[in-house]
Amino acid sequence: MLKSRRILLVIGGGIAAYKSLGLIRRLRECGAHVRCILTAAAQHFVTPLAAGALCGERAFTDLFDAKSEFDVGHVRLARDPDLVVVAPATADLIARMAGGHADDLAAAALLATDKPILIAPAMNPQMWAAKATQRNLAQLKADGVHVVGPNAGEMAERGEAGIGRMAEPLEIVAAVEALLGRAGPLSGKRVLVTSGPTCEPIDAVRYIANRSSGKQGHAIAAAAAAAGADVVLVSGPVSLPDPPAVSVVRVETAREMLAAVEKALPVDVAVFAAAVADWRPERQSAGKIKKRQHGQPPTLALVENPDILSTIAHRKSGRPRLVIGFAAETDHVLANAKAKLAAKSCDWILANDVSPGTGIMGGDTNTITLVTTAGIEPWPPQSKENVARTVVERIAAAMADTNS
Ligand code: C5P
Repeated sequence: MLKSRRILLVIGGGIAAYKSLGLIRRLRECGAHVRCILTAAAQHFVTPLAAGALCGERAFTDLFDAKSEFDVGHVRLARDPDLVVVAPATADLIARMAGGHADDLAAAALLATDKPILIAPAMNPQMWAAKATQRNLAQLKADGVHVVGPNAGEMAERGEAGIGRMAEPLEIVAAVEALLGRAGPLSGKRVLVTSGPTCEPIDAVRYIANRSSGKQGHAIAAAAAAAGADVVLVSGPVSLPDPPAVSVVRVETAREMLAAVEKALPVDVAVFAAAVADWRPERQSAGKIKKRQHGQPPTLALVENPDILSTIAHRKSGRPRLVIGFAAETDHVLANAKAKLAAKSCDWILANDVSPGTGIMGGDTNTITLVTTAGIEPWPPQSKENVARTVVERIAAAMADTNS
């Protein structure tokens, strides 16, 4: 997919730099030509020799190195590639990029490039959450820089956990493919994905929601983009980073989600992975409801939310060619999934058992049964990323069939 594409990899000075060596290998396995710049700080973690050996050409380190300026030069380093990847993008490197610095080879090349830039941030969770980092990140996003990760998890420092782990090499490769691999099996196709929960306000501070993390929906959006699709992701409130090369619309309530979905039409494929709240409070209090009203806890009157999947699948005109829903069930999973396929008029249902103890809701793995009018197909338990890749492969095959 990345055959002959040229990547300039800027390695920043963080412990995650060791993973960047793996990233070089993965990119080269995909056929990419990789050139490397190491900052001075990066060289405390990995050597130019190791990076150069994996790239198949020497790594670059010094802005004022007469030999490199003669051979290549920072402007050529910046202009030659199809994409610049910064991994790990440390808090300091992000700040220097946002400030337009050019005081070392990495910063100068990043400033001089006219090519898309993808950063994979990696830092301590406090540094990530710091107002200055978030301000710099917002500036970079506004400047058109693409971001992959960071992920949540354990840090290199003992006892530290949170958001700040660099995305894994394969996730970065997928992001690179999403940005460059417009020739993928879904290129020219428009895909809509809903993801996450919806939050239905009760009053100024309380809401009804569910335990959806958005991991599966976001992974499908990322995989569809990596396959070359033009992807719109309509997401409820989640604490996940936006997938790269995906246009994300953030909503809170089911009604906002429906409006955003309708606005995104027409699309070729729609995947409804969001766990939409079935009901919302009939009335939302502008202020905070007191614990007791007239000596009693308040009673909540609920009304049904619109069924977004069913609304779109039943459209007379402008129905996506392929409409895919999920059925998260705790009992009679297959019977309910089959009933849903018919009632909601969708083409496929991805059924999963979300009973307590399965760890599916909010977890990293999923066990899916694909239900279509043609039959039932159980898939083995696998990561949500793998489920996403399989779903996207199946979508591509179905699109190819309907094209012919
Ligand atoms: O009826 P149930 O919520 O189990 O259906 C699940 C499927 O329907 C999921 O694909 C979900 O995204 C979609 N759905 C929806 N709008 C709703 C409820 C569910 O799009 N209000």
